[in-house]
Amino acid sequence: MKILSGIQPTGRFHWGNYFGAIRQYISLQGHEQSFYFIADLHALTTVREPDVLRQNVKDAALDLLALGLDPKRATLFRQSDVPETTELTWLLMTITQMHLLEKCHAFKDKKAKGIAADAGLFTYPVLMAADILIYDSTTVPVGADQVQHVEVTRDLAQRFNATYGECLHLPEAYVLDESAKVPGTDGEKMSKSYGNTIPIFETPKKLRKTIMSIKTDSTPMESPKNPEACSVYELYKLFAGPEEQAILAERYRGGGMGYGEAKESLYQAAMSHFGAAFERRTQLESSPDVVEDILREGAHRARAKAREVVERVRSACGLLAKPV
Ligand code: TYM
Repeated sequence: MKILSGIQPTGRFHWGNYFGAIRQYISLQGHEQSFYFIADLHALTTVREPDVLRQNVKDAALDLLALGLDPKRATLFRQSDVPETTELTWLLMTITQMHLLEKCHAFKDKKAKGIAADAGLFTYPVLMAADILIYDSTTVPVGADQVQHVEVTRDLAQRFNATYGECLHLPEAYVLDESAKVPGTDGEKMSKSYGNTIPIFETPKKLRKTIMSIKTDSTPMESPKNPEACSVYELYKLFAGPEEQAILAERYRGGGMGYGEAKESLYQAAMSHFGAAFERRTQLESSPDVVEDILREGAHRARAKAREVVERVRSACGLLAKPV
């Protein structure tokens, strides 16, 4: 399997990013190809302060490494360090039909709200297709919200191949049912743009406060409760094994337990799950050069593959090979 995925440095990563994507990055590392990148070019469609973007990229790298991404088994790099991607974006753009992009949700949502979208947001899925196709990727671990973009990638690859002959490989999204759409504190999909996130690296005090703010219904403490209808339990399931899940579910159904107690269990589960990552992050923070070297070395490896694919694409559509 040739694995590839990207994540935008638009703010601190949250539990949706972790369970929907990052945990899969880690479990899939060590394959024939395990490429993961920080999507700084995509982030430019929303982050317009250079210092903030630079800091976000640093934080993203630290977070991913602290959470268990191992540079010996996976390649971690910055998207903009592989400029071949923007060349492939243009080549793909020339065969992209407008209607395909008009139905993509990021653009459609903005349009529906009457917000003017720029060309970067409109063509965002083409850049994402280039990200994937430029490494001949077979498998793209993502949450449910990105599946549409992987479908667009397949459409573009098929159209390119139909126009110029077999050249690009069709990837597939890799989505885990149980964590495809992690709920936020209001029960909607966890997302920075909804302001309902639970950040991964948060002080214990703030984390507890955020967890205690998760919306629950008004069933009185004594009454039995339905765990399956509760976001606290849905989140708890992501951390806990089957036995622990069954114990908490029983407490819900039996009555006599308030939501505060379930939230406390969630808090404890999160603290113990991310405890080691916290320590690793603190250590890594003291060696920023090591992190920068990892990103540079990653880009070097990724670029070698990207050059090979871009040469193949150039030749397929009638452009000259690039002088070395
Ligand atoms: P981004 O940065 O919005 O999100 C990164 C990953 O986190 C997943 N995710 C979630 N999964 C489950 N539940 C949630 N509440 C939740 N919130 C976020 C996303 O599905 C994603 O997998 N366009 C991409 C970045 C990208 C990319 C790529 C991904 C650029 N090029 C090529 C894959 C391949 C994005 O904006 O993800």
